[in-house]
Amino acid sequence: MKRLVMDVDTGLDDMVAELIAFGSKEVQVDGIVATYGNKLIEHTLPNTLNVVRYLGRDVPVYEGSHRPLKREPVVGGNIHGADGMACFPFPHYQDNTSKGDGIAFLKQHVLEHPGQITVVATGPLTDIARVMQEEPAWKDSVGELVVMGGSLAGGNVTPYAEFNSFDDPEAADYVFRSGVRTILMPLDVTTQVTLGRQELDKLKTFGGKAAKLFGHCMETYYQSCTSVVRECPAMHDPCCIAYLLDPLMFSGSWKSLCCVTDRKSERYGETVDTGKEGNTLVMLHADQSRFWPLVEQAVRNLA
Ligand code: BDR
Ligand code: CA
Repeated sequence: MKRLVMDVDTGLDDMVAELIAFGSKEVQVDGIVATYGNKLIEHTLPNTLNVVRYLGRDVPVYEGSHRPLKREPVVGGNIHGADGMACFPFPHYQDNTSKGDGIAFLKQHVLEHPGQITVVATGPLTDIARVMQEEPAWKDSVGELVVMGGSLAGGNVTPYAEFNSFDDPEAADYVFRSGVRTILMPLDVTTQVTLGRQELDKLKTFGGKAAKLFGHCMETYYQSCTSVVRECPAMHDPCCIAYLLDPLMFSGSWKSLCCVTDRKSERYGETVDTGKEGNTLVMLHADQSRFWPLVEQAVRNLA
């Protein structure tokens, strides 16, 4: 059983990553840290707490960074709805509060269980960079670091930069150059795993609370993506959990990366492949046919 800590900025695709992790019998989520990203922390923290409570999981939620290392935060557009969760009508939960400092948790939990904890980061890399800056031994204690972020072939927020890396380029650059062994899911691979009308309609028929949450949120995601960018929505963040459940779904190559941190450059936030072999396994190909059965199984397990 793999033990995970997730670091998320809960919007719509982060929620699907959480749903698959909670619904899978092969991973156990020890804790979740909510950071800013798709929305400010005022939304992403309650969103994370609500998803955990709604799906009935007793997982502690901690409060991560409120802003990037150096720049002002950039929140995502309306693709995730006004509150980041497509205004899903969650019940009102008593005691819906966080367990405190997410940076301290991320640091201690990994250090106390050397080599045993997989950290999955699906938002800006601020929390991960802060932990590594505060505790250099962390990078040798983390079991595996799996990240959604970056792009080698064009961005989704500027022509060059992917959203999570653009939100905190200094943090992305720090993590990429730190030497920590990382599995990276960039846009190049996450855009190969998309939600089509057929999968959405099928999952809506499953019944149960997970199918209800998935159906509501993914309908908004589908409508926004197909009307605004005229593409089926990509399952960016869920690729990280899919990799943990079925690593052979993905393939890529080991690279040494950095991120453009020159704020005056139009390439600010761009992922750069230095051309050398390095510590980051950059996934470049996905077998989409293996993805949806994992989601379906998780939805069934959580019903
Ligand atoms: C990433 O940006 C966010 O909007 C998504 O949740 C995902 O983590 C994709 O660029
Ligand atoms: Ca995210």
